[in-house]
Amino acid sequence: MPIAVVVGAQWGDEGKGKIVDCYASQADLVVRFNGGANAGHTVVFEGKKYKFNLIPSGILYSQKTNIIGNGMVIDPKKLIDEIDGLLKSGHTPNLAISPRAHVVMPYHFVLDGAEEIRKGGLAAGTTKRGIGPCYADKAARFGIRVSELMDAQLFREKLHTMHQLECRIIEGVYGQVFKQTEDEVFLQYSDYAKRLAPYVKDTNEIIHSAIAKNKRILLEGAQATMLDIDHGMYPFGTSSSTTAGGACTGSGIGPTAIDEVVGVVKVYTSRVGSGPVPTELNDSIANYIRDKGGEYGTTTGRPRRIGWLDLVTVRYSVQVNGFTGLAFTRLDTLSGVEKIKVCTHYTLDGKKTESMPASHKDFERCKPVYKEFKGWKDVGEKEWRAIASKGFKALPKEAQAYLTFISKTVGVPIYIVGVGPGREDTIVLKDVFKRK
Ligand code: IMP
Repeated sequence: MPIAVVVGAQWGDEGKGKIVDCYASQADLVVRFNGGANAGHTVVFEGKKYKFNLIPSGILYSQKTNIIGNGMVIDPKKLIDEIDGLLKSGHTPNLAISPRAHVVMPYHFVLDGAEEIRKGGLAAGTTKRGIGPCYADKAARFGIRVSELMDAQLFREKLHTMHQLECRIIEGVYGQVFKQTEDEVFLQYSDYAKRLAPYVKDTNEIIHSAIAKNKRILLEGAQATMLDIDHGMYPFGTSSSTTAGGACTGSGIGPTAIDEVVGVVKVYTSRVGSGPVPTELNDSIANYIRDKGGEYGTTTGRPRRIGWLDLVTVRYSVQVNGFTGLAFTRLDTLSGVEKIKVCTHYTLDGKKTESMPASHKDFERCKPVYKEFKGWKDVGEKEWRAIASKGFKALPKEAQAYLTFISKTVGVPIYIVGVGPGREDTIVLKDVFKRK
């Protein structure tokens, strides 16, 4: 039975929330497998906007189980706020938290800021949500898992060690002060534990009994390929496995069970945070796209950097994720641009390359080489919706040519085309959960 993964193919903010929402309507289980409150997605449901950082996008369907996977790092306060927000608006969250997920602690936030300052020019421009330090503790086996937070005695023991250690690092190494005492943190987090306890479940059993019953499972990724801890442009990415492999490790589902991997591709490039972006634009076209598309970070509100679509990135993304289909987003935002460029390859030190360099220093020196396409007119919200209802062939011819070129160049079929923010503004060419 289909198990599908949805991941971002570029630098994040490709519009994954909308694609996940679209497929979630057909799924029985939605599992988020990586990241934490650094992600942000907006879901529009019955005319109301909901913003989530941690909760999976299927939460507004009460009959679907939404799982916070073991690959995630949880800021308990944020999660409780999101749960309370749902309860207030009349939704009972059908939520299960993996006991193997890690907990973001107050010292992680302080360290996130301090480490960024110390990194200077190599700072990633993080969201300051404590993500990197929490994953670092996880890898060093200093981390506190949800299961440990639920065990007051064990939590106290671990906190005792960690509080001392982190205070020394924050004060001794970074010259800052961590203001909360061990007791204060213990009391605060014990309260959080009580609130979250009803949602902590054996997610492994939930997932695998669903697989045994042929249920449809959607694995929701946060961030995107170029931010992956292994495959991204290190060190300017995030600290989790954002790619399809991370869907397996972050949920406890083996790779042989995965049927579909959908890569979400925004039809131009956007990026929040620092590091090189070869196709970046700093001109009136970038301003036009940023304003038209409201390209400001969902989590931090930062203006996003804008550029032309980069096919070296998309091709690389296809390789490291094994995409079976592409979901294009923001076709409407790019409309009205007279001539559209797409980067087909780079030159590095005068030589043509189609490969993604491993070193950010080499990446910085890559010069994009473009192919030019004729743009398409903006037809307005209503007309885009009408086009969406008619299907791919109703799209402006120039847009069809642009999308077909991308799909052919990277050798992956088109599954979805998004021409606006809502579900009605989406052309679904392939429903990943349809029985074959
Ligand atoms: P962190 O994940 O907060 O540690 O940030 C590391 C890098 O990933 C920074 O460049 C962030 O701007 C970027 N980043 C993290 N989460 C997202 C996201 O959801 N969308 C886009 N960029 C993100």
